[in-house]
Amino acid sequence: MPEATPTQITVPFKAVSDYPIPLKENGLIEEYLSESHSYDIPEKTLNNEVAELIAKLESKPTFNPDLKFDPSKHLVFKNEYYETTTTRTLEQLGIKKTRTKPVSNFAAAHPFPLLTQEAVDMVLWESLRPEVLRKYGRLPNLSKNATRLDFHVGGHTKFAAPFTRAMYNSPEVAAIVSKFTGVDVSTIHNSTLNHMNISLASSDPNEMKEIPSEKKDLLTAYDAQASKKGHELPSTLGLHYDSVTFALVIMLDLGEGAVGGETGIITGDDRVFRVPDPKIGYATLIQGMVLRHVATKPVSNSNRITGVTGFKTCGPGMELDNCRITSQKPSVLPRAIHNIFYSDWFDYRFETLSKHLDYQRKQIMEKFEKGEQFDQLAMIEVCKNMEKFLFDSYKELEAVHNPPFPPIEFKTPYDQLPNLE
Ligand SMILES: [Fe+2]
Repeated sequence: MPEATPTQITVPFKAVSDYPIPLKENGLIEEYLSESHSYDIPEKTLNNEVAELIAKLESKPTFNPDLKFDPSKHLVFKNEYYETTTTRTLEQLGIKKTRTKPVSNFAAAHPFPLLTQEAVDMVLWESLRPEVLRKYGRLPNLSKNATRLDFHVGGHTKFAAPFTRAMYNSPEVAAIVSKFTGVDVSTIHNSTLNHMNISLASSDPNEMKEIPSEKKDLLTAYDAQASKKGHELPSTLGLHYDSVTFALVIMLDLGEGAVGGETGIITGDDRVFRVPDPKIGYATLIQGMVLRHVATKPVSNSNRITGVTGFKTCGPGMELDNCRITSQKPSVLPRAIHNIFYSDWFDYRFETLSKHLDYQRKQIMEKFEKGEQFDQLAMIEVCKNMEKFLFDSYKELEAVHNPPFPPIEFKTPYDQLPNLE
């Protein structure tokens, strides 16, 4: 059925939705209100592979659990990287139609150096301690070929990761993302800060036997994967659009000799463009809101850990951004804990709207004081934008609307997308 518009809203909202509750047969998590514990990371993983990783980090001579983020010490980005980093525009990827209006022509940046090893280690240590993973980590929903060693953690930085939080929220990181994308940006909210996609190498001898280790077998497995269409690629998160405007992806761990595991972007002709894999501490950047993409699963028995942080536009006009909750809401993403996620989401929505309102009020009075004619049609546009932003804040809530996941648009080639209004 067509998407509801603000004028169609009736109370209760259920009257306009064919999908009033999340159902497993629609790819959704029915236990979303009670923290989706059937997706908990198995104790075997926490006690073996995760415990080994934490012990390794804690045994480094410079390890300091109270390390404070210092941009001059922990960021290795240099201004010259704006020139030396390869970037792609939407045009270069052959993408002419998008599901929503792009905020700039920027599509993707190839890997560029961002963090020191010490900073990377701190992000890993803060996020992967077993007590953090028990509370904020979950196995993925609907992933292809995922095992007990593929999981997500997120929503924890506000509570358990002060270094990580300070790093992502630093003005220096926002300035880098702004310069690459060509628009002013900021982070969004706690639940979109440092979502980690984790695949660990197995230390179980029986499991290890099943995974290729010879270089030639790995390359055969990689080639077999590379010939697949986007939606068939094994991944910890299927083919999707992000629900945030831009995603900054930092490589935090990548085992020696790892094969595969890059981000694949679907291009305008429905092929997969693999962004070359970053080294540890390097970052890539994509306009994930309008690029269909997939985080492929490594074919080797290797650790691969990335930290993904969302950024939204925040220009001087305090415009309303295009973020949504489609692929992040608790009925879709098991690691999104209901009470944390929606408090984060509405706090950010209302803060954004409130700044926008203040800006608009100032504009009205400034124009009046200059003696300008009041523009009714322009004001209707301003009000409609706010109405849409508010409607977009709640239209996907589980209490009212739970269409099958993944949504049809995740599978729709760009050129078959409906025309934008
Ligand atoms: Fe993504």
